[in-house]
Amino acid sequence: MNNFIYENKTKVYFGKGGIKEYLGCLLKNHRTVMLAYGGGSIKKNGVYDEIVGILNGAEKTVVEFSGIMPNPTYAKVQEGAKLARENNVDFILAVGGGSVIDCCKIVSAQAKTDGDIWENELVKKEFPTEFIPMGAVVTVSGTGSEMNAGAVITNESKKIKCGLFGAQADFAFLDPNYTMSVPFEQVISGAFDTLSHAMETYFGKPSKNNLSDDINEAVMRGVIKNMRVLLTDHNNYNARSELMWASSMAENGILKIGKITDFQAHQIEHQLGAYTDCNHGKGLAVIHPVLYRHIYKDGLEKFARFAKNVWGIYDRDSEEETALAGINALRNFIKEMGMPTSFSQMGIPEDTDYKAIANSTNITAGCCKKLTADEIFDILKECV
Ligand code: NZQ
Ligand code: ZN
Repeated sequence: MNNFIYENKTKVYFGKGGIKEYLGCLLKNHRTVMLAYGGGSIKKNGVYDEIVGILNGAEKTVVEFSGIMPNPTYAKVQEGAKLARENNVDFILAVGGGSVIDCCKIVSAQAKTDGDIWENELVKKEFPTEFIPMGAVVTVSGTGSEMNAGAVITNESKKIKCGLFGAQADFAFLDPNYTMSVPFEQVISGAFDTLSHAMETYFGKPSKNNLSDDINEAVMRGVIKNMRVLLTDHNNYNARSELMWASSMAENGILKIGKITDFQAHQIEHQLGAYTDCNHGKGLAVIHPVLYRHIYKDGLEKFARFAKNVWGIYDRDSEEETALAGINALRNFIKEMGMPTSFSQMGIPEDTDYKAIANSTNITAGCCKKLTADEIFDILKECV
């Protein structure tokens, strides 16, 4: 096991009815609360009314920041930061999925500095140290954004979608009942995102046995099992709750302990998103099997272990056949879930500039093989 330091500051309130019981108390030292949300799903499912009722009951000044879009933009971050400053917001309550939570993480940091966060972090390599404190109410799971400080933001003018460092939520409410109104397609897409986070971490270094990978295999098997349950029983509470916690587990650092993680599929998908504004989980579903077919020979032992311990494939004659069967099992699972296996099925236009996407993709050290921009282009072409 490599050396590590582990801490996670987010206090998690998991289960039914947590908001009613604890939210008011958690906000007792704050006066002006920014209530941040997306395009309006929380108004349809009653979550908005419930939270506003609690905030009004506690006599908070509520500043609404709405319309945070899937794949939140840097322009939206600036809008939120301006609003927070103008109203002296002293707490941000992000109510939504990864997009709302990510946007708020950077709003929290941007509101505390006159500098430009994008420029500071990505050019000057200066990271924020002051934040407006925030909390998260998760209404759609998958990204695990509620338990880390990373935020994925799309800079439209630069055509780059990438990770920034922002605030981490002090607390997160995970009420599986809040996810019951999420369209089934999005539930599956989010769950696949969780599986992707687990896989990207699992294939990171070191590749030899360690506890993080053992736990990871259990998380992956659990995600696959519960996605299958939801396929025939969309609103199964137990499956939704298991997936909700798996989502946090995949991104709260536990699976990454002692590992150098590789997120090459994510890097490719993020640039695909920058150019097409596509759905994150669906983009990953198309990319993963193709990427893995390109690299598995360089990580044969781990891919064979993945096939055995995650997909239960023990009957092949060689390590290579086992590894390939595991990747095929992943692809078949994606089809079984009704997810896309090509960009055309996602409705991505034929004339998308895949060369530009490949050339602007951040190339990681590689879990087992460092790709070139040309190889990424080949992978993208195969995904079309
Ligand atoms: O905007 P509203 O109206 O709320 O609708 C949303 C949105 O259209 C809807 N939704 C949310 N809760 C709902 C609901 N609909 C009905 N009932 C509810 N209870 O779901 C749609 C998708 O929401 P979004 O937040 O975009 O989804 P997700 O959680 O998958 O987040 C995706 C974003 O997170 C980034 C992705 O790149 C993407 O930008 N990621 C963030 C990560 C992180 N911070 O750690 C890691 C991930 O790898 C990922 O990159
Ligand atoms: Zn993801």
